[in-house]
Amino acid sequence: MGAISLYIGIDLGTSAVKLLLTNESGEILNSVTKEYPLSFPRPGWSEQDPRDWWKAVQHGILELTENFNKDQVRGIGCGGQMHGLVALDEDDRVIRPAILWNDGRTAEETEWLNTVIGKEKLSELTANIAFAGFTAPKLLWMKKHEPENFARIKKIMLPKDYINYRLTGVHSCDYSDASGMLLLDVAHRCWSKEMLDICGISDEQMPKLFESYEVTGTLRGFVSGSLGLPRDCRVVAGAGDNAAAAVGTGVVGEGGCNISLGTSGTIFISSKKFGVDPNNALHAFAHADGGWHLMGCMLSAASCNKWICKDILHTGDYAAEQAAVKEENLGRNRVFFLPYLMGERSPINDIDARGTFVGMSMDTGRSDMVQAVLEGVAFAIRDSFEIAKSLGIPIVSSRLCGGGAKSPLWRKILADILNIRLEIPQTEEGGYGAAMLAMVGCGEYKSVEECAGVLTSVSETIEPDPAAAARYETQYLKFKKIYPAMKTLFKEIKEEAL
Ligand code: XUL
Repeated sequence: MGAISLYIGIDLGTSAVKLLLTNESGEILNSVTKEYPLSFPRPGWSEQDPRDWWKAVQHGILELTENFNKDQVRGIGCGGQMHGLVALDEDDRVIRPAILWNDGRTAEETEWLNTVIGKEKLSELTANIAFAGFTAPKLLWMKKHEPENFARIKKIMLPKDYINYRLTGVHSCDYSDASGMLLLDVAHRCWSKEMLDICGISDEQMPKLFESYEVTGTLRGFVSGSLGLPRDCRVVAGAGDNAAAAVGTGVVGEGGCNISLGTSGTIFISSKKFGVDPNNALHAFAHADGGWHLMGCMLSAASCNKWICKDILHTGDYAAEQAAVKEENLGRNRVFFLPYLMGERSPINDIDARGTFVGMSMDTGRSDMVQAVLEGVAFAIRDSFEIAKSLGIPIVSSRLCGGGAKSPLWRKILADILNIRLEIPQTEEGGYGAAMLAMVGCGEYKSVEECAGVLTSVSETIEPDPAAAARYETQYLKFKKIYPAMKTLFKEIKEEAL
């Protein structure tokens, strides 16, 4: 028997970084979560200081490995929140706080890209159209509003690439995460020269591209010293958090589906072939297994539940709130909720949309509103699910992960609203997929697919209840009418606020 090898998987999220330590058999030996601040400097803006991420990762690694033989750590993989713009100057110092994936300041730039450059051209160059959260509109925003900062940019990075850079000194990016910049020619897996020109960026300012499971470097001497990890510990390019999560839940290769109920809510369909949604409502991105995927992303999912419980009801006891929701009321709620607390991406692409309760009466209670929030998120996931179905993609079941997936009630509501079987992976901790990528990079497995075949399995399934699913079918038709009725009002509300 060979020596034990340990792997670190990192999930650089929006509210916290989760780190886990596994052995080569995928057994989780330890996990640590470190939070960091998130700031909303203006309504709809969302920023973080990349140095806070790095501090959290360092403390996290030290705590994670404290009681283990650090010499056995062979590899590190990092998955992270996508699209965020990290701009470094010539000394590799952060120029300004990172502008995050759920930041909506770029309405004008997004509109300009989609109308003046045109959706067709964007789709031809990058397989996608512009969404406010994507990186290219953020660059255009910076160029216009902070020209002195823009002029200082030496390198552009995505959030997890900044961590990889701090670990290795190498400016790298992987194809899955790069897909969300609107700067990558996704079909050919290379930077689009034309898109870089449109954004006023040169090739030298871009990081080097890798497959997610490829090794980009080893630890810098002083990093290895301060973390106590071996100098030859390998770091793989990693992936966007959704691609990393899909690897961790075993959604690789052809036709698998993964739904994540995290801060954002995503539906992720993997494929071996490159394909584009003709209306670009779903993103067409590279996958971390060397293939591709289609993805719908809603900007506020589990964060809607956190908002109603913490900010509005002032409770941290989510389970108690949900315990008050009666099973016979599923599919019978007269209250509806639009979950657009940060505007919305897929499929409506409307950064001015806002959260909305509809249908309250004097007998509406607290639990009806909590239920409406859980249902509103599930209905919004269904919006993207319907688009996938309209493309002829048959989805009969899906893996489910993310913080929201821990709620038995939410699982049930989602299974009934989508009317599909949901499968809860044996291990669905953030960071697991990233650790698997590190294992592949270090040669434990020949491919990501092989690794997923060995290390992922399902621990529990939730079948839809036909009666509740039928009631939800009618409810969904009502839900679908709310946003179109509100759309122009959302614009007016925004204009009045300016
Ligand atoms: C995906 C997206 C979000 C972030 C959240 O396109 O914007 O899922 O990656 O971390």
